[in-house]
Amino acid sequence: MIRDIVIYPDKRLKLISKEVVEFDSELHTLLDDMYDTMINKKGVGLAAIQVGVDKRALIINIPEDDSDIQLKENTLEIINPVFIEKDGVQKHQEGCLSIPGIYEDIERAKHVKVEYQDRFGVKHTIEDDDFLAVAIQHETDHLNGKVFIEKLSILKRKKFEKEWKKRQKNTL
Ligand code: CO
Repeated sequence: MIRDIVIYPDKRLKLISKEVVEFDSELHTLLDDMYDTMINKKGVGLAAIQVGVDKRALIINIPEDDSDIQLKENTLEIINPVFIEKDGVQKHQEGCLSIPGIYEDIERAKHVKVEYQDRFGVKHTIEDDDFLAVAIQHETDHLNGKVFIEKLSILKRKKFEKEWKKRQKNTL
């Protein structure tokens, strides 16, 4: 089921999400709904707080090669992520379903290694040094109440806020 996406500057995006302790049907429904919502908006990642649920859960589905196909079975479901390695630097253009239409180059760690749990509570480790590493860092930031535009320089941030206010006025 498609849920509503929380749009910036909604205060819920500033919440620190809580650790998931029950890996039950409620969590599974949330993850399934997050997938439907992300696909509906043509996103590659979504954190639970973006549908208004403050749980440390996120999903990522990066289309393979040049295709647009995002099969459900290829969706990475990351619960309670913890970075155990984070190093290097890469810059990549990022966007966010909570700030639709805005794309900015953001600097992040190049390589990450993350411990997390799947929807059944089973522990896994994942490692990447490409776009998946960017996506994991972007989505994990959401769990900590952060959005990607907070990483912009003061000047670019001001430019964004002005542009965003203008856009919001136009859509009212
Ligand atoms: Co986002």
